Amino acid sequence: MIDRALERRLPDAAAVEAVGAPRIPRFLRHYTMGGIGPEVGLARNRAALDAVCLMPRYLVEEAAPDLTFDKARLRLLAPFGVAPMGLGGLIWPGSEEAIARAMGAAGLAHALSTVATTAVEVIAPLAGAGRMFQLYSFSDPGLDAALMARVRDAGYDTLIVTVDVPGATRRRRDIQSGLSFPPRFTLATLMQMAASPRWLAGQAARGIPAFQNILPFLPKAGVTEQAAFLGQQVECHIGPERLARIRAEWPGRLIVKGVLGADDAVAALAAGADGVVVSNHGGRQLDATPAPVEVLPTIRDRLGDGALVLADSGVRSGLDIARMIARGADAVLIGRPFLLAAAAAGNRGPAHLAAVLMAELRTTMAQLGRRTLADLRGVEWTR
Ligand SMILES: Cc1cc2nc3c(=O)[nH]c(=O)nc-3n(C[C@H](O)[C@H](O)[C@H](O)COP(=O)(O)O)c2cc1C
Repeated sequence: MIDRALERRLPDAAAVEAVGAPRIPRFLRHYTMGGIGPEVGLARNRAALDAVCLMPRYLVEEAAPDLTFDKARLRLLAPFGVAPMGLGGLIWPGSEEAIARAMGAAGLAHALSTVATTAVEVIAPLAGAGRMFQLYSFSDPGLDAALMARVRDAGYDTLIVTVDVPGATRRRRDIQSGLSFPPRFTLATLMQMAASPRWLAGQAARGIPAFQNILPFLPKAGVTEQAAFLGQQVECHIGPERLARIRAEWPGRLIVKGVLGADDAVAALAAGADGVVVSNHGGRQLDATPAPVEVLPTIRDRLGDGALVLADSGVRSGLDIARMIARGADAVLIGRPFLLAAAAAGNRGPAHLAAVLMAELRTTMAQLGRRTLADLRGVEWTR
């Protein structure tokens, strides 16, 4: 159910961004909203989605749209979920719990990042049946195994292995703003924090966030030693051998995130993955990639109908969800808007955004005269 008062203030993801983004301190806003390099890829994600036209169909028997997703033993009440995002509790205090609770209550997917600031044991019961854990692989296989065991013990069945961070990432905005974790208290960052009173009040109540999921593996020494250790360990290049090792150690569903090329998608499944997330990390890794929505048809063709294909990067509406599905995705992940929803409306924000996206998808399906998600495949109009 949509809260009508909240809806007037926040009718869609664009309004959520307009209200939420300015409340986040500037250096964290840059980290959240930014892409890499001159951000051509970030813009391309949007432009490519906007370019997908769908042909409406009206003269068919009316049938209530059915949003339910059921594939590869994954059941959701709508074909979307939140993408894994690190540093959530720093970007907006309490956002990780609020997002997980919203997704669990709505029966949607929820992916928790390795570098989240809330423990997997806290998130698991909130996130419900659609919960997934995203793994950044450590260079020490023993640490991977220990983290996977912890995640498994917390009740997770689905592991998402991110492969599009093969080395250090250089983002201009973060270099310029001096982003670090934990945050460095310079005059500039302190002034930016002071200019964000809601954020400051939330952080003051909760204390400085930490990487709760990898904390037990960090040296007990100070933050400088911990940062050095992480720099050494989070060496995320994942080749076929490492993927096969992770596959052998993870008994549940395995999804590889960050593929764009059909050869990589085929290699992921050959290594034993159950599915892929077609993603360019929201334009944050390589500025020259195609947008996921552009390469989806090729990937679907190569993998066939049976493979689980998720997609993300740039999705901002129910219409965008339909566009991704029309082009070959089974379901989508959505990143930034959920953090911004927490900034815009606190604990109620993520649940509100999820309800808005579901309502938008329902009206889109009615316009398209399609009842099920399977019916959406191929409704794209091409000249
Ligand atoms: C602030 C932020 C942090 C992110 N952290 C991670 C992460 O820890 N692991 C990961 O696989 N992807 C991470 N991503 C990428 C998202 O999972 C997702 O691919 C991307 O945000 C989708 O694009 P969208 O934000 O346009 O919806 C992050 C993205 C953002 C914006």
